[in-house]
Amino acid sequence: MDNTTVEKLVNAAIEVAQKAYAPYSNYHVGAALYAEDGTIFTGCNVENASYPITICAERTALVKAVSEGRRQFQAIAVVTRNGGSPCGMCRQMLYEFSPELTVIIADFEGQVHRILPLHDLLPHGFSPKSLDE
Ligand code: THU
Repeated sequence: MDNTTVEKLVNAAIEVAQKAYAPYSNYHVGAALYAEDGTIFTGCNVENASYPITICAERTALVKAVSEGRRQFQAIAVVTRNGGSPCGMCRQMLYEFSPELTVIIADFEGQVHRILPLHDLLPHGFSPKSLDE
């Protein structure tokens, strides 16, 4: 992943994090998912008074992309105030489509904390192939 693309994704994630609806945690998250065809789908976390209903930024971006016909992805940037790592539910949902996805973890200052493949965050993950074995 070249630096220009990383910067573009991180900036898109920082921008969408401003739209986060997070009145309960006050923890804003932005995600920018880079589809195989070069389209960027952004997402923020959207909380709910019934707390568990909350959707994370990564899954917001993913469902936007899949519902627009994309199923293959190159990378995702996830941006928070402290460079927090994607939760397990989001790792699993992304793994369904792209185990090789490059995950860029950054903060609101644009500082990149980590770049690593999704399968390092979710080793031995459960995938569609698991159902055939
Ligand atoms: N959150 C995300 O959006 N993505 C993650 O990967 C971790 C957590 C959100 C959910 C909730 O709105 C807030 O961060 C605090 O957990």
